[in-house]
Amino acid sequence: MKIHIKTYGCQMNERDSEALAGMLIEAGHTMVDVEEEADVLLFNTCSVREQAERKAKGKIGYMKKLKAKNPDLVIGALGCMAQRLGNELLNELPHLDFVLGTGQLHTLVPLIESIREERRQVASIAESADVLTGMGNHYRPSGDPSGFKAQIAITRGCNRFCSYCIVPYVRGREISREQADVVAEARMLVEDGAKEIMLLGQNVAAYGWGGNINPPPAGVSPFAELLEELDRIPELLRIRFTSPYPTYFNDRLIGAIASSRTVCRNIHLPLQSGSDRILKAMNRQYTADGYRQVVHAIRQAIPDVTFSTDVIVGFPGETEDDFRMTRDLMNEVGYDNSFIFKYSPRPGAKSAEIADSVPQEVKEERNAVLLEDLKKRVAASLRTQVGSVQEVLVEGTSPRNPERWSGRTGTNRVIHFLPDSGIRAGTLRRVRITRAGSVSLFGELL
Ligand code: 5AD
Ligand code: SF4
Repeated sequence: MKIHIKTYGCQMNERDSEALAGMLIEAGHTMVDVEEEADVLLFNTCSVREQAERKAKGKIGYMKKLKAKNPDLVIGALGCMAQRLGNELLNELPHLDFVLGTGQLHTLVPLIESIREERRQVASIAESADVLTGMGNHYRPSGDPSGFKAQIAITRGCNRFCSYCIVPYVRGREISREQADVVAEARMLVEDGAKEIMLLGQNVAAYGWGGNINPPPAGVSPFAELLEELDRIPELLRIRFTSPYPTYFNDRLIGAIASSRTVCRNIHLPLQSGSDRILKAMNRQYTADGYRQVVHAIRQAIPDVTFSTDVIVGFPGETEDDFRMTRDLMNEVGYDNSFIFKYSPRPGAKSAEIADSVPQEVKEERNAVLLEDLKKRVAASLRTQVGSVQEVLVEGTSPRNPERWSGRTGTNRVIHFLPDSGIRAGTLRRVRITRAGSVSLFGELL
């Protein structure tokens, strides 16, 4: 059958969709890009904010038209929103054939077969650790220019229960994969041409720590051990990871990153808020000062490190003062990138029990202020790079100007340059920076 998957939400969802595509291909199906050509339409959904749910529901609703034209069409909703709403989603969207939750993704192939044979609505949303065994597949179409990049999910689920977050409810308890399985998967990907591997998890740095919400003591970090194992794969050039919870950065982990050949000097370190009062209400297990200490310790060991972060504006009860503390801390750390989210109450998460008290206009305004700060910081940080020589992993032709190529530094800055005859995506090259733009750099190959 011809199958189309559309993915909403985070990189974990992108990775799940890729694993599902791999599974479907193995079972003899083909993947198609165009919805109208598909026999089966799959929507891998997100629940993290209301907007994400609204988008997916709108899209699936619209597919009713395709189903009217082609009654054999099978439509399924997968992932987080499917998990959260289950049968409710089937009732709301009667042309939907099935919902498949986050713990049952590995059962997709037989489920599609059974629905083709016997038309009925199915909701399959039981939590199951079996999903780990099914989800190691990869879909790596030949000729894909970004084929030198690959992703591996090393943990699934989350035990942290930040008060705003729906993830622990829709993705279940945190489980880590065996180190040997992760390393074998990485070796297989590298043999297949991968040069950069992104390790994924809701809290990657908790990898191998048994789901314990207290971070490991000084000197202990199973995640660091995993990074060291992966560092030994000769043809692997780069490792990135997202997202780590700040309190898991002990000396063992920081030391492993600092001495690693492959781990990139760019760390995504979700802050969420710079106000201790709000951090507490969010059930984040650190203070603004505690967070500063983590940043300081990482910078001491890795002086050229860059940081990115996630921040929520308009959490219930956030005052101008709280917001100012977030803003100040963001400028102090000097993030090179930040993902700023307007608080969205999620039914089921703890914070949804308190009133969503910050007006929408105030959320918009705070969001705009932080974006403006970010713009200024990025431009200033890029200017400091002019004249320096940087190593990039070549990505391919620049999206806006096909005569130029671009590459990414380990610190996650994009550099555009004119190619030479030896240029190839997925190789490391040195570039001298000649000019800074507002979001990227320009340079010449050495
Ligand atoms: N409202 C707004 N943003 C949220 N995030 C998670 N839950 C919510 C919510 N209810 C943000 C956090 C997290 C990122 C993936 O999404 O900043 O780090
Ligand atoms: Fe969205 Fe979170 Fe699910 Fe990712 S894990 S798809 S961000 S709800």
